[in-house]
Amino acid sequence: MHLAVVQTNPVFGETQRNVQEALDLMATVKAELYVLPELFNTGYNFIKQKELAALGERADGITYEMLLKFAEDRNCYIVYGFAEKADIMYNSASLIGPDGFIGIYRKVHLFYRENIFFAPGNLGFPVFDLPFGRIGMMICFDWAYPESARTLTLKGAQLIAHPSNLVLPYCPDGMVTRALENKIFTATADRVGEENRGGVEIKFIGTSEIVDPNGKILCRLNSNNPAIKSVEIDLSLSDNKQINVYNDILKGLRLDQYK
Ligand code: ACM
Repeated sequence: MHLAVVQTNPVFGETQRNVQEALDLMATVKAELYVLPELFNTGYNFIKQKELAALGERADGITYEMLLKFAEDRNCYIVYGFAEKADIMYNSASLIGPDGFIGIYRKVHLFYRENIFFAPGNLGFPVFDLPFGRIGMMICFDWAYPESARTLTLKGAQLIAHPSNLVLPYCPDGMVTRALENKIFTATADRVGEENRGGVEIKFIGTSEIVDPNGKILCRLNSNNPAIKSVEIDLSLSDNKQINVYNDILKGLRLDQYK
């Protein structure tokens, strides 16, 4: 399959512009699955709850509709981060395909001021069967909790789609470890640019990347500009958890010793 990471530069509050920016990049590269950044449609740096209420969307909102048209036309799948308006607000990622909505993940480990605005995710880490493989999602700072990627691995995911708005410099290298320690593919789609709002200044580091189950970086984007990159991969390589005849990453777990 061809897997693409889409790196955008959203303008805060300009949903249609931001979705169109992603669609324009996606139109330049053919892939079966596109992974977009966290909160790619709204921007990141909320400073008032009422902004979030205005910009948040239900899973079938305008962003979904715009992306669905692309998924239908191109017969492809898309993972994207957005502010989900449910009973309360979640920092979520949706997985959609040519036949519509497939599933949602709500960010479990909120970062910094997200804790003011969003409720922590309550759906665990679901895994979805697609025609080309089993896909799970986690969002940005979830990378700092190895339990996120390990849970997805134990549930059978072959690829972790990882919409992000990275600010800390450690994540791109950290995700190499997440891939390696789980022998799983990872696709981190980050954004670039800065948001300086209400005295809160945030700079995003780009560096979107795709990593294979041996920790090899298959592509890594720049840190300043919107970009897209696709790689051809065989997701079944994630099913082999063996390092040598004695060591299999999952069979070697010593759960009784971790208490
Ligand atoms: C982050 O979780 N957006 C750093």
